[in-house]
Amino acid sequence: MDLEKLLSDRLAPAFAAVAGVPVDPAVRRSQHADFQSDAALGLARRLGRPPREIAAEVRERAALADLCAAVEVSGPGFLNLTVAGHALGGLVSAMAADPRLGVPLAAEPETVVVDYSGPNVAKEMHVGHLRSTVIGDAAARTLEWLGHRVLRANHLGDWGTPFGMLIEHLLDLGEAGAAQELSMGDLDGFYKAARAKFDDDEAFRERSRQRVVALQGGDPATLRLWRLLVTQSESYFLTVYDLLDVTLTGDDFRGESSYHDQLAPTVGELDRLGLLRRSDGADCVFPPGSVGRDGEPLPLIVRKSDGGYGYPATDLAALRHRTGALGATRLLYVVGLPQRRHFEMVFAVAAQAGWLAPPVRAEHVGFGSILGPDGRMLRSRAGGSVKLVELLTEAVGRATALARERNPELGEAEATEVGRAVGVGAIKYADLSGDRHKDYVLDWERMLSLDGNTAPYLQYAYSRVRSIFRRAGAAARPDAEISLAEPAERALAMELVGFAAVVDEVAGGLEFHRLTAYLHRLAVAFSAFYERCPVLRAQGPIRESRLVLCELTGRVLRQGLDLLGIRTPERL
Ligand code: ARG
Repeated sequence: MDLEKLLSDRLAPAFAAVAGVPVDPAVRRSQHADFQSDAALGLARRLGRPPREIAAEVRERAALADLCAAVEVSGPGFLNLTVAGHALGGLVSAMAADPRLGVPLAAEPETVVVDYSGPNVAKEMHVGHLRSTVIGDAAARTLEWLGHRVLRANHLGDWGTPFGMLIEHLLDLGEAGAAQELSMGDLDGFYKAARAKFDDDEAFRERSRQRVVALQGGDPATLRLWRLLVTQSESYFLTVYDLLDVTLTGDDFRGESSYHDQLAPTVGELDRLGLLRRSDGADCVFPPGSVGRDGEPLPLIVRKSDGGYGYPATDLAALRHRTGALGATRLLYVVGLPQRRHFEMVFAVAAQAGWLAPPVRAEHVGFGSILGPDGRMLRSRAGGSVKLVELLTEAVGRATALARERNPELGEAEATEVGRAVGVGAIKYADLSGDRHKDYVLDWERMLSLDGNTAPYLQYAYSRVRSIFRRAGAAARPDAEISLAEPAERALAMELVGFAAVVDEVAGGLEFHRLTAYLHRLAVAFSAFYERCPVLRAQGPIRESRLVLCELTGRVLRQGLDLLGIRTPERL
């Protein structure tokens, strides 16, 4: 179904025959023809023949007559391939007839754990958690659509020494008052007040310490208070997920505390395997290849000198559980790049311990920071870190105003609905459309703009398609013969049939900016087509063919945006 692959499959036997060994034809899109293969260049030295001669022989041998209108040797030895109109039309028809738009289900479905969002109890969810939540959700949606079994793991920070002071603060406020404050989402206020007392008040500090001991010892009264903090925070996080339209639910919370029972066995196994070393009173593993700037080996601390287990031990226990009990073969950790070293070391230790062995693989899906317009870390007006809800509320407010202004006919309910889809979509898209390894600047004007590589532009293109069908009063006939005589029709068809290849690529590297770039190219091609090729005013078979192109464009935009977690309102 995917053109690059089709052409590649036809060229491969011809190259193999000429070279005597298997050769990757390296087919790519080209500016000079539709596609180009430059594999002949790489063979020249090996075969001791001029590359143009190799390309010419491959051209003779390759069975391309039904697919290509022209195959030419060009330049130093490229093969330029021009796809035949009827072949392209046939692919478009096949795609239109397929509910999955030509994207096959995974041949070997896997169990994939996607570890994402991971906010901390009684601490505000800030914009750093936004990226994890948005990218992780796109990964979960995409892999699920491809037929994988996706397990969402929200690795909530719900355990550790801060809970001593948080519980004591809760007692000071009284349970009802604390619950009220937390459910309002004033997590930062709660945390900071506790912290301030901890820093200034020796008696509070002492109570907090004893409380940690009681918590770790499983004291029932303490556990009940701790659970109160956790459930209040969880319900607040769920309201944010709902606002943000992400697929995480209450069943996906896999807090650090849930690995509690597995910490001792996990570290015990490392001990039995002879991997533990004592260093400054702590139990450590020194994975091969982990060295600091000074060239000294770096330890992963799995049990602190006070006997407690921390973040690294918890991640090791979680990993062991995921590959062991859950049987996952792919583990994704959607966490900011500052934690890169942590994950490298966790993966290395897990490999040493045999919990992570091929074909099972773990990937740190890292990302950069969100910056303010001044190019520095995003800060609120008051100077603190920006609350995620504030950001979302602002986006939705701006988008609703935009929707009302553009389309005064929208009723109040629809304007709110559209504003939410556009505002949330704009934030998600801004996050997903840049190379995730880089920082990005939050720029309201740009992300809400109806031109350019933005969610509103794509949503607008989708709504235009829908409006054509509202006016046509009928759906496209998928069996209509596709005619691609106009260059703009041909260009649109070429983009449409590229969908499967992009989805496949994104499922591997989880670089969603490749999907956004594709959808943007598609919308641009559609817009050019729509300007030059009348649809409803065309007659007979041309009209039928154009309706299929429109409908397919709408479906691809909708499906592509859905993989990113972005809604497509019918009217904008
Ligand atoms: N709670 C952590 C933080 O806020 C993120 C958790 C990431 N996931 C993990 N398995 N370590 O930094």
